[in-house]
Amino acid sequence: MLRACRGEPVDRPPVWLMRQAGRYLPEYRAARGAGSFLDACRDVELAVELSLQPLRLVGSEAVILFSDIFVPILALGVGVDFRPGPVVERPIRTRDDVARLAAPDLAGSIPYVFEILRRLRAALEPEQVPLLGFAGAPFTLAAYLVEGQGSRHFAGLKRLLYAEPAVLRALLERLTDLTVAYLNAQIAAGAQVVQLFDTWAGILPRTEYRAWVLPTHQAIAERVERTRAPLILYVNDGAHVLDEMVESGADVLSLDWRVELAEAARRAGRRASLQGNLDPCALAAPPEAIAEMVRGLARAAAPARGHVLNLGHGCLPETPVAGVRAFTGAARALAPAGG
Ligand code: CP3
Repeated sequence: MLRACRGEPVDRPPVWLMRQAGRYLPEYRAARGAGSFLDACRDVELAVELSLQPLRLVGSEAVILFSDIFVPILALGVGVDFRPGPVVERPIRTRDDVARLAAPDLAGSIPYVFEILRRLRAALEPEQVPLLGFAGAPFTLAAYLVEGQGSRHFAGLKRLLYAEPAVLRALLERLTDLTVAYLNAQIAAGAQVVQLFDTWAGILPRTEYRAWVLPTHQAIAERVERTRAPLILYVNDGAHVLDEMVESGADVLSLDWRVELAEAARRAGRRASLQGNLDPCALAAPPEAIAEMVRGLARAAAPARGHVLNLGHGCLPETPVAGVRAFTGAARALAPAGG
């Protein structure tokens, strides 16, 4: 995994899945019980167990911290609830709202994240399984903070962008600083790779993406300790901003299924490795069809600097466990590169 991220030679692409811990697993539902999702994120032992479940249950080859992109937002003093997606108690829409955000004390307000990472790293070290940390990207966090919750068009966010750009600029600056500090603290606690999730950046036209999103990615790529932990950048629905993803400086570009890996490999060249990009819904296919799709992805990405097999977005609550197992099984059965 680490070699693939850095573009060093590997026998075959490693495999893991976004949202590999979660509601599609009966074992997740059983362990999580009826408590709130945020309580599960704060419960160190439970979060460690949930993080590790996909290793033995579905054959993933990397572990991602069980948490959510909204956990560090708590450190800004913003109230967040999950129903089941994030809902912000008091949306951030004015210059005063931004000014009122607390100066984050990550170790003081969300110490459990770093304790979970330290325990995971200790558990995984003997087996040499890589540990991923993650953060939500500033634009995606801002999208929820401004709207107050998920949205189809994020019209409130876009209104701010076009009508009151100074407010959104100030908010994105605060969130960029938070993200850099958060990812570096995760690396210090044992994360060996970090992934930045920009789930909503793809809603912008290319010109606005260049003006509003690319600079946040570039600042993060510059200030995160990438020599200690390579940075993966995920943008959902970002086929129109692939060149901007390459310009971000991230070590790995995580692509959704709308992008052709062969084309992405041409455009990224030696500047970045690729991650992805099976449509999560394709895991409903019969095992042999999934294996054929995995071989197709590996072939298409073979010219890339490096390739990490993954989905194009996270597992869904309705994803069949058998489909996930077929996906990791097919990846593990790939012939060595050049063979
Ligand atoms: O296994 C993993 O991937 C690690 C944990 C993880 C979660 N959320 C756990 C979670 C990660 C990396 C995330 C990222 C996340 N969270 C993103 C970016 C990636 C993406 O999926 O686009 C976003 C936008 C969120 C915000 C969020 N959290 C939403 C919209 C929802 C509800 C809808 C959904 O997909 O479940 C959540 C809740 C959430 N985060 C759950 C889990 C396991 C479900 C909680 C439950 O058990 O009820």
